[in-house]
Amino acid sequence: MLKAILVTLITLTSTAAVADIHPDRQTELIYLLKHDCGSCHGMRLQGGLGPALKPVPLKRWTAEQLAMTILSGRPGTPMPPWKPFISPQEALWLAKHLKSEITP
Ligand code: HEC
Repeated sequence: MLKAILVTLITLTSTAAVADIHPDRQTELIYLLKHDCGSCHGMRLQGGLGPALKPVPLKRWTAEQLAMTILSGRPGTPMPPWKPFISPQEALWLAKHLKSEITP
């Protein structure tokens, strides 16, 4: 488990090209955010079963920490791991997106 986290961290920190996510894939990720994440975090991500994914409450985490949570989930809570569906770069992009105010 620790090894997996370390590997993910190394992958995350060595990925400088976050902005390189294709615009089509960005649209897919936003769709995922609204529909899949939204089913627990609220359609407008204002919170539901899961906490609000808005810039102010997310300030206490770095984008890298949020990307880790998205990839690995929170064991023991309903937050599932999204690793099978999104790459570390995409998770980091989503985390940065959530920390900025342009969320859906
Ligand atoms: C099945 C319900 C469910 C789905 C679907 C879900 N989450 Fe979560 N999520 C949770 C719960 C519950 C928590 C709170 C876990 C805890 O108690 O720490 C959480 C926590 C988080 C956190 C940490 C927030 C914080 O302030 O601690 C992030 C970031 C997050 N989710 C992002 C996402 C993203 C992005 C998606 C879609 C790709 C997603 N979640 C889909 C239930 C869900």
